[in-house]
Amino acid sequence: MHLLDLDVLKREDIEKILKYAEYFKKNRYNHEKILKDKSIAIIFEKPSTRTRMSFDIAVHELGGHSLIMNQNEIHLGKKESIKDTAKVMSRYVDAIVARVYEHKTLEDLAKYGTIPVINALSNLSHPCQILADLLTIKEYKKSFKGKKIAYLGDGNNVCNSLILGSALVGMDMVVATPRGYEPNALNVLKALEIIDEYGEGSLKLTNDPIEAAEDADILYTDVWISMGDEKNLDKVLKIFPPFQINEKLLEYAKDDVIVMHCLPANRGMEITDDVIDGEHSVVYDEAENRLHAQKAVFKFIFEASSSEVR
Ligand code: CP
Ligand code: NVA
Repeated sequence: MHLLDLDVLKREDIEKILKYAEYFKKNRYNHEKILKDKSIAIIFEKPSTRTRMSFDIAVHELGGHSLIMNQNEIHLGKKESIKDTAKVMSRYVDAIVARVYEHKTLEDLAKYGTIPVINALSNLSHPCQILADLLTIKEYKKSFKGKKIAYLGDGNNVCNSLILGSALVGMDMVVATPRGYEPNALNVLKALEIIDEYGEGSLKLTNDPIEAAEDADILYTDVWISMGDEKNLDKVLKIFPPFQINEKLLEYAKDDVIVMHCLPANRGMEITDDVIDGEHSVVYDEAENRLHAQKAVFKFIFEASSSEVR
């Protein structure tokens, strides 16, 4: 199986992945070596600190071998078609983890290869981030039921995956963006279908940051300009500031609100120093949880793939 976004998962899959992640977190150095004799290609078309380190360390601690390859070190899509790269890599390694500009690159790797492909961020989505975030929310809030999560800012890749993750665990989510910067319509539709399927949770889009922040259990934000985005900075600085997470906005949320950001952050833009460094911030737990969640993803995907009929 592939993990290109969270819509391939059911609620029980998320529960399983979070359980695995909790086990890996509790047993950091003495857990099962599920990647023994396995090699994992980890490809980056864009920069990364957390994803690169957490995947590399996850593979190492699971007993496997990782090959980290930057875009300019391999032929991906330039000197060689994605199809040929996918077919060749499938002869060498057991899975591909890739951070790409165009989501279609992941789809093509999955289409032409014969091994699992894991999305390490694309223009459309960032599922591994959200699995780590769900683990973090569970740690702080114990359960997802009845929790209000507010995402403020740009309706980007992180937001697109967060709305699926939130729907799958049944949270009530409000997304507040400036007009024209809403999340991907297809992801919104999929999230609403998931909410309908389980009869739990909700999703609302608004252009009002205060409506989103009001009584929130979780406040989440991300950069206003993502890697590869061609937004005009002057325009962004004109329309995005009301969506900044700052002390004033925090007053609308619940007293025990947690503040989340996938990092890297543009301090002073989407979030202020006092909030990201403040008592409500859980950003470094989120970052750490990438490691545990990614180990869980490997376990889940290899179990699922071994039971698939080939
Ligand atoms: N959150 C996240 O994916 O960070 P990196 O860009 O550092 O990998
Ligand atoms: N939305 C950000 C997330 C970085 C982890 C980006 O795509 O640049």
